[in-house]
Formats: sequence, C-alpha cells, structure tokens
Amino acid sequence: MLLDAHQRIINYVRLSVTDRCNLRCTYCMPANMRFLNKIKLLTDDEIIDILSTLASAGVSKVRITGGEPFLRPGLIKLLERISYVDGITNIAITTNGVLTREYIPALKSMGINHINLSLDSLQPERFKQITRRDSFTEVMNTLDSLVLHNMNIKINMVVMDQLNTAEINDFVALTRDQNISVRFIEEMPFNGQGNGFSGITWHYKRIMETIAAQYALNKMADEPNSTSFNYQILGHKGNIGVIPAYSRTFCGTCNRLRISATGSIKTCLYGNDVLNLKPLLQQQQPILPAIINTLKARYIDGFTAEKHSTNINKTSMSVIGG
Ligand code: GTP
Ligand code: 5AD
Ligand code: SF4
Repeated sequence: MLLDAHQRIINYVRLSVTDRCNLRCTYCMPANMRFLNKIKLLTDDEIIDILSTLASAGVSKVRITGGEPFLRPGLIKLLERISYVDGITNIAITTNGVLTREYIPALKSMGINHINLSLDSLQPERFKQITRRDSFTEVMNTLDSLVLHNMNIKINMVVMDQLNTAEINDFVALTRDQNISVRFIEEMPFNGQGNGFSGITWHYKRIMETIAAQYALNKMADEPNSTSFNYQILGHKGNIGVIPAYSRTFCGTCNRLRISATGSIKTCLYGNDVLNLKPLLQQQQPILPAIINTLKARYIDGFTAEKHSTNINKTSMSVIGG
C-alpha cells in the first residue's frame, strides 16, 4: 500500500499520455502553444512498467488524461495493454470529445465505461471563443453517442466569469432526460500564460447558489476521495456536482498521484514536479523506492504546495494532465 506522510492512501493515478491537443482552451493554454518533442514522451512500454509497479503497490484506478488522449498514436492498443495490468480494476478517460466518438465501441469492449467529457458551452459560437477551434459539432456528436452507448458520463464545465456563467442552468437542464453527471469546476490558474487569471470570481458557493435559485437540490452521499460535491434534482435522470478545484476543500482525502506525458511525478496539482521516472526506467533502475520517497514530502494541502511552487502561473493544464 502506498501511504504518504499524512497517512493518505494513494490508489489513483492520473496519467497524461500526450501534451498535444486539438483545441486551445483559453483557460488551459496560449493560442500559440508549443508542444514537446515526441522523443521526450513516455513510450508504451514505459507506461506499462510504471502502471505495473504502481499496481503492485496498491494503485487500482488509472485516469488517462492529456492534452487530448486520443491524439496519441496507438492509444487503443495501449489501453488494451493497461486493461491487462494486474491490479488495475478501473480505467477512466478525460477527453475533449473531438475524436472520441469512433472509439466508443472499442472502449466498451475493453470494459472502459467511465468517460469525463470537457465541455464549457452549449452554444457553437461561445464554444469556438473558449476553445479557439470550430469543433462543437464533433463534440456534441460524441456526447450523443456516449449516451446511446450507456457510458458513465461526467461533463466537466469550467465556470468562467462573463463567459459561460449564463449557461450554468442550461447545463443543469441536460441532466433532466439523460443520465449524465454535470460537474461545474472552479477555474484554476493553469492557463500556461503566466497571466490572465485574476483570482476566483465564481467560488463554488456562488455556482451552487445560481443553481439553487432555479432547482431544488438534494445532497448525495459523498463518495470517498471524490473531488466533487454532488446533488440530485427531483425528476432528473442525471445529477450535478461542483468541484472546488481552486478552493481545494478535498485535500485531506486526496488519493491521487499525477504522471505527466514525459514521466514527471507531481504529488499535488498545485506543486512542483518532484521526480522524473523516464531516466530511471532507461537506466533500468527500480522506480518504486523513488516513488515512495516522493510521498514522504507530500504536502497536506494545495495551499502549502502552491506556496512552494516555482512556476504555477506559467504551467498549462495540458502539460499537467488535469
Ligand atoms: P473522477 O474520477 O470521475 O471523480 O474524476 P476527476 O474529477 O478526478 O477527474 P477529471 O479529469 O474529470 O477532473 C475534473 C476536474 O477536477 C479537473 O479540473 C481537475 O483538474 C480537477 N481535479 C482532479 N483532481 C484534483 C486535485 O487533486 N486537486 C484539484 N485542485 N483539482 C483536481
Ligand atoms: N481550471 C479548471 N479546470 C481546468 N481544466 C483544464 N484547465 C483548467 C483550469 N485552468 C479541466 C478541463 C478538463 C479537466 C481535466 O481539467 O476542462 O475537463
Ligand atoms: Fe485541450 Fe483540455 Fe486543454 Fe482544452 S482543456 S486545450 S481540451 S487539454
């Protein structure tokens, strides 16, 4: 079992499989984002090595992130290999949905049923303004297909002042006839631009007040280690949630380790990279003792990590992996 210095169990790894993306969301990266040389990325074999090692130490859940995961060549083959790793019982993917649709049957046949879809507007023009790309139709087609295939769907909506807040309750309405979970996320400072983030104006309580003004909400039981507080609405097939990603109210039960596309470990989203696994793997050195060592200095909360972080405002979420 992997334990940090505060006795938190680590059983969930977020693995970025590419830093590349086919969107350019303003809250995530600059318009002229430069991507890494592919040579720096973890290979499939290295990823399987890392996951097998983590699984042998008790990690059972893997979330595949990016960038956009479906831009990695051979992703389906890699997922298949991951599905055979002993001890990994839950594989989930966070995707922007642009390319995802055609892969849904393959995912289902591997037993991958959990998809988190990033979608911040239900209006084509605003979608384009936020993502700087014209892919609204593809994403909505993916959403329809995910529903048709009965996937376990969470929509991630980043709430941004003067941009999409008027759509909050339109997103809630999506849950009336469809079994979808919509999660409203506080914006975080990882836009890769070193500026443009002026602090939180849509605190999670303000988001909840906006929804409660129109809907009667019933708090659901908290899932262990969840980042979201979830609510049911009478008569709705789906449910809603809010993720206090900036307020960080859930650090006390954080069970996550992050691995970037190049193999760097982050023990906190708001902290620095603490170790790169790629050179160790290339030199055929054991990685588990090094990973265990990083957990000794794992911060108890994101605020302390942020205080010690060297480049928080310059980092793009596409590099961290969310
Ligand atoms: P589930 O496994 O479905 O609960 O997903 P998740 O919330 O762990 O992952 P997802 O990729 O859908 O992320 C949703 C939002 O939560 C993103 O904006 C993440 O960056 C944020 N998030 C996930 N883990 C953490 C965390 O440890 N700290 C903070 N502050 N935010 C997080
Ligand atoms: N603030 C909050 N959420 C963000 N995401 C990306 N960048 C940010 C940010 N600056 C979300 C995406 C995706 C998830 C992995 O992280 O919308 O759904
Ligand atoms: Fe791409 Fe996701 Fe970043 Fe948008 S938020 S640019 S979809 S990685």
